[in-house]
Amino acid sequence: MKPSRPILFVSSLLAFGMPGLQAQPTTVTVQAGAPGKAISPDLVGIFFEDLNYAADGGLYAELVQNRDFEYSSADFMGWNPLTAWTLVQHDGGKGSLLVETATPLNDKTPHYAVLTVENGGGGVGLQNEGYDGMPVKAGDTYNVSLFDRQLAGSAVPLTVRLESKSGALLAEAALPAPAADWKKVSATLKPATTDAHARLVVLATGPGKLALDMVSLFPATTFHNRLNGLRADLAQVVADLHPKFMRFPGGCLVHGDGVDNIYNWKNTIGPVEQRKGQPNIWRYHQSVGLGYFEYFQFCEDIGAKPLPVVAAGVCCQNSNHSRGTGQQGLPLEAMPAYIQDILDLIEWANGPVTSTWGAKRAAAGHSEPFHLQYLGVGNEDKITDSFEERFRMIYEVVKAKHPEITVIGTVGPAPDGEDFNRGWKFAGEQHVPVVDEHYYKRPQWFWDNLTRYDTYDRSKSRVYVGEYAAHDDKRRNTLRSALAEAAYLTSLERNGDVVPLASYAPLLARRGHTQWSPDMIYFTGTEVFTTINYHVQQLFSVNGGDAWLTTTVSPVAAPARFAASAVHEGKTGDLILKFVNGDNAARPLRVDLAGAKRISATAVKTVLAASDANTIDAQAVHPETSSITITPAFDYEAPANSLTVIRIKTR
Ligand code: AHR
Repeated sequence: MKPSRPILFVSSLLAFGMPGLQAQPTTVTVQAGAPGKAISPDLVGIFFEDLNYAADGGLYAELVQNRDFEYSSADFMGWNPLTAWTLVQHDGGKGSLLVETATPLNDKTPHYAVLTVENGGGGVGLQNEGYDGMPVKAGDTYNVSLFDRQLAGSAVPLTVRLESKSGALLAEAALPAPAADWKKVSATLKPATTDAHARLVVLATGPGKLALDMVSLFPATTFHNRLNGLRADLAQVVADLHPKFMRFPGGCLVHGDGVDNIYNWKNTIGPVEQRKGQPNIWRYHQSVGLGYFEYFQFCEDIGAKPLPVVAAGVCCQNSNHSRGTGQQGLPLEAMPAYIQDILDLIEWANGPVTSTWGAKRAAAGHSEPFHLQYLGVGNEDKITDSFEERFRMIYEVVKAKHPEITVIGTVGPAPDGEDFNRGWKFAGEQHVPVVDEHYYKRPQWFWDNLTRYDTYDRSKSRVYVGEYAAHDDKRRNTLRSALAEAAYLTSLERNGDVVPLASYAPLLARRGHTQWSPDMIYFTGTEVFTTINYHVQQLFSVNGGDAWLTTTVSPVAAPARFAASAVHEGKTGDLILKFVNGDNAARPLRVDLAGAKRISATAVKTVLAASDANTIDAQAVHPETSSITITPAFDYEAPANSLTVIRIKTR
């Protein structure tokens, strides 16, 4: 029989927010002299999905939209291979722009543009609008490249230009004349002026006919200066969260809109011009320029463990919504090949350079393994016979061949209900080590569920809270929602033996292209906006600790408006206290560090607070740090609507 983990009984963790009790201090007692209970060092991570233009038009630094002419109405009604492109004809120039498929660059990108110039005039070509324009900075370098091929007539000289919306020239470079076969040509552009909404123009000045594909414009500076890299400012804000793991590529994107749309990691590696993009379930296009190599590399660059999620052999139950096809499973005869793809992924991530897939990783520039430890199988799927059959097939093989990998199963889209119950039952029967719970709920739900994991059966699967967010009125990022999440995180710290991993969702959203809200970080082409929820995630991530110290709060009452947690951080020896006050009134606290030895008299206090819980202003409501005097028993007033983190040196 499997030994059961001890069930922790925490008798008094929550206290009232009744106005009448405010005069009486709330007592928080921390068993500071005891070793505490080990908690996962990976607790706070991030959930990344190409939703809200988080990848293309977001984290992926490519500035050209539809660079490979592969957009279609399958991505979005009305889109076609020339979406985001326009024919330009300057000063008497005359020509046409078409899309053909007869002699493609390769079979992964079958469409390419054909530019026919009858009369060069002042130039005939094509321009790309980027994502709401292309942000360029004066003096910065931009790498432009494209594949071209002469189709008829004599070689047509080409120039590439960055222009403002009104056509003013920002930068220009000549490209070598096209050859008879597909060839990659490149140049650099250095704009003289900063422009948030520039465009890229490829111009031919003489008559002829040529084919063009994979027209790309990248800032020379990317995050960690990676080739085919990530937008530096946005990636840095993500890195500043210091996430302990990163889940990718979703979300619903993983299991896809129909079985043909299930995310295929193998289509996302190798030279970008040989990757196969596909429609995004969120109704746009995924170029997969940000693919598995880039995801794993980003994880490494920010010190986060990679947590890829693969589909459990079934597509999203909301697939083809209008046609109502719903969840469908891959044909059973396709499952062996599908499972082999998953084994290949593990080999690609961790295998030696002498292995088939490890060699591909090395060829991409990473001979060392990526140290994959976690693998998600399934994303909030409807738990059906079809799901169970396919999950079991995958899980049994992965478990047998890779006992070192922790497989994370799924228990449906909600924190309760039919799929949740059946999912848990199935996971128990299969002895799945960890399952993925999701909840998007009102702030009050989080306060009401602070004891959810206190009573979980420690002999069962552990829990990855893979997607969660408090959804306040109008789904705005209010302080109220952030504090509900903070209070909840104290309960996850307390239950670190049940919950090793948690990630707020979704992470990123491009303003004006958002399919889901709230999100943690918003951005435009030039700006990045964090939220109060971001501040909470960051405070818990950098103050995580690795042992939870028994913390009790009294008096206790319901509904809960106060939560507390204390952790010990092994590497520094620091004792870290967290207090979340969800009341509109300040709360006097008496903090008793029972059994504490050698605490420093001065500690660092960080407070996130505002008088109005409705506020969404993350610039005004940001963590403020100051010092605080500490004694083994001290008084502290937790401000109204606040999260306080106190870091105390013990060495
Ligand atoms: O996070 C947004 C979406 O919410 C995810 O794609 C899906 O898993 C969940 O329903």
